[in-house]
Amino acid sequence: MILLDNVSKYYRGDKKPALDEVNLHIQPKEFVFLVGPSGAGKSTLIKMLTREEKPSYGNIMVGGIDYRYMKKRHVPHLRRRLGVVFQDFKLLPNRTVYENVAFALEIVGVSGSEIKRTVPKVLELVGLSEVSHKFPGELSGGQKQRTAIARSMARQPKILIADEPTGNLDPENSWGIIKLLDEINNFGTTILVTTHDAEVVNQLRKRVVTLSDGKIIGDQKVGGHYDLDGSRTRIEKRSLGGNKAPAAAVPKAPAAPKTVAPTAPAPKTPAAPTPVAPPPIPNIPTSSAMPPLQTAPAKAPAAKPKALAPTPDKVAKPKPKSGSAVLEQMQKAKAAEQAKPVAKRRKFIH
Ligand SMILES: Nc1ncnc2c1ncn2[C@@H]1O[C@H](COP(=O)(O)OP(=O)(O)OP(=O)(O)O)[C@@H](O)[C@H]1O
Ligand SMILES: [Mg+2]
Repeated sequence: MILLDNVSKYYRGDKKPALDEVNLHIQPKEFVFLVGPSGAGKSTLIKMLTREEKPSYGNIMVGGIDYRYMKKRHVPHLRRRLGVVFQDFKLLPNRTVYENVAFALEIVGVSGSEIKRTVPKVLELVGLSEVSHKFPGELSGGQKQRTAIARSMARQPKILIADEPTGNLDPENSWGIIKLLDEINNFGTTILVTTHDAEVVNQLRKRVVTLSDGKIIGDQKVGGHYDLDGSRTRIEKRSLGGNKAPAAAVPKAPAAPKTVAPTAPAPKTPAAPTPVAPPPIPNIPTSSAMPPLQTAPAKAPAAKPKALAPTPDKVAKPKPKSGSAVLEQMQKAKAAEQAKPVAKRRKFIH
């Protein structure tokens, strides 16, 4: 779950906010396009979520983490929990595709044997097995972006945020990347993507949130269109359950938003949880979002990271659950899709 509660951001020296009282609620497993003209505040919103920037006003909660209580030392853990993909890929130029993905696991302490099992699976999922030995300089733009996605998905985040992931790609590669993000979403990962690509947005017909001058001017929950003046989009009252998540997953709005109400009618008194210590942010949370790619020793029980706990530093790492069965299921689904006659494949695959 992603929640921005009346978030405003003034960059130093600016009189006009880059984000102006933004209220946004994204439920688990949603796929959301964030669109808007250049300078609308899309990247600023993303940077709020990754904690690259802090809001001037308002609050943010992501995956049960209340940013008000997040200490500086928790930020790296947050970033490990969120998958983040950028327009310029941000790959390590002196490492191969395999090493780029492996490195993302190494730095969070995954064992060498686990990395050897996991990386080939991730690369297969994103269609990069054949080029795993290549360096970024030897890849096409689409392959670079797939590497970046593989790197962020290797840690199995529940939320994947992508800031213009197709910005440097030609139309064909853009579709490939969007299709990959859609597949990842189909397996339960929440996806938030900023884009200027009207064709992609209009064909996918997902939820579309439109920003303009730092304000949300449109929020189409399903069947959204790319519409920068807001004439075709309108801010709809949040329907319980969203497009995928069960109604039970809908949290109470933590505060009464002043302008747009993205959630059910907001209570007057804040319904935010009583201040507690930040939640545990284990290095490798076992996520139900993606098929676990790291295989665990046989019979290892799945450990669910608790949303909130009083002593985050003392929480033991959850053991990853065995992922081979789920992974096989995902691979079978992919093979079945590819075996279908072209006409029967999902519409957006060109
Ligand atoms: N680090 C920064 N310091 C000062 N001002 C900034 C900074 N980053 C962004 N801004 C300003 O905040 C506003 C929103 O910028 P932002 O990058 O969020 O827009 P955007 O919607 O991502 O645009 P684009 O589509 O061009 O990427 C702009 O007016 C920009 O000049
Ligand atoms: Mg931007």
